Amino acid sequence: MSNPSILILPGDGIGPEVMAQVTRIIDWYGEKRDLAFDVSTDLVGGAAYDAHGVPLHDDTMAKAMEVDAVLLGAVGGPKYDNLDFSVKPERGLLRLRKEMDLFSNLRPAQCFDALADFSSLKKDLVAGLDIMIVRELTSGVYFGEPRGIFNEGNERVGINTQRYTESEIERAARSAFELAMVRSKKLCSMEKANVMESGILWREVVNRVAADYPEVELSHMYADNGAMQLVRAPKQFDVIVTDNLFGDILSDCAAMLTGSLGMLPSASLGAPMDNGRPRAMYEPVHGSAPDITGQAKANPIACILSFAMALRYSFAEGAEADRLEAAVEAVLADGVRTADLLGEEGVTPVSTSEMGDAILAALDASL
Ligand code: NAD
Ligand code: IPM
Ligand code: MN
Repeated sequence: MSNPSILILPGDGIGPEVMAQVTRIIDWYGEKRDLAFDVSTDLVGGAAYDAHGVPLHDDTMAKAMEVDAVLLGAVGGPKYDNLDFSVKPERGLLRLRKEMDLFSNLRPAQCFDALADFSSLKKDLVAGLDIMIVRELTSGVYFGEPRGIFNEGNERVGINTQRYTESEIERAARSAFELAMVRSKKLCSMEKANVMESGILWREVVNRVAADYPEVELSHMYADNGAMQLVRAPKQFDVIVTDNLFGDILSDCAAMLTGSLGMLPSASLGAPMDNGRPRAMYEPVHGSAPDITGQAKANPIACILSFAMALRYSFAEGAEADRLEAAVEAVLADGVRTADLLGEEGVTPVSTSEMGDAILAALDASL
């Protein structure tokens, strides 16, 4: 049988910097664990625009549909801020999500013990935190029609539309209930059913799906209260399910609970392919971080943990995912810190590749 295939799309800014460390880890699995992957690399975002005039070439899109998993770094940056909206780097990422139909975006926020002091919250509020945000990723206000900037009388109007069908809500909800079943059987759904019809429908459909999961304790919360509760007492949550825009915002918020945006991975999953694997893309939650690009400062952990999620969800290598996560934890426990994780006096930050070195050494030590 041929090796499982991975398409790597490093993207822009710190994307290629953090992805270089992931590539070393993929190689390590081939050499040390007899777990070889067929890896190909292509362009996305501003890098694709520079080469082809579009943020995602049709050939790249076609490749993404053929492989077993896509790993993406980050897209965007100031160089591309004034481009026409239709060719902005972010459009390349959104096209991948939409055409691969990756409706379920898993964004775990886990506070490693060694980092409990780095959270902007008090240590006892975040120590041991382990929550999973399930963000609907292919619909809602990101994609709803009508959209655009139109003339209206003597001024312009910008329009986006929040739109959800019952089936879109149902499949996102179902994936969240499935996760709740293998975690602590607790699910909180967030919307704004008090002001939005799409929120009313969201709550109704989630309640309907709940009938198939009688063991799961389901609660509902308005998303604004949810944001407040996430910073007041985050450990009250286990799995959270929410729409595309609320999920975008709430997951950045949850990221800071863990110490740094540079720590948070994600998996974007769709329906099973012919080979039984889910169509999938793995990417850190953070962006291209233009403020630190080219300075070897970027924390590669979010991207590395995204590969751990690929091991778990695409390649059924849960034990190897555990190994990689444990290696990251061991390195953090040893006090190895990139610049985003500095707080303690007298600690010198390591570079992106030195963090990669440390994680590879911890992987070696795990054998
Ligand atoms: P950002 O996530 O790029 O950066 C926010 C802050 O977090 C910055 O101070 C940055 O230095 C820091 N940071 C982020 N990742 C880090 C890491 N791995 N290590 C250390 N520090 C890190 O968000 P932004 O500044 O709002 O956006 C910059 C660009 O990235 C924009 O063009 C935006 O559209 C794009 N973006 C892309 C993605 C993606 O590709 N998935 C996600 C978010 C933003
Ligand atoms: C994210 C990002 C993206 C989003 C952008 C870059 C399109 O912020 O993945 O969280 O808004 O979904
Ligand atoms: Mn975001």
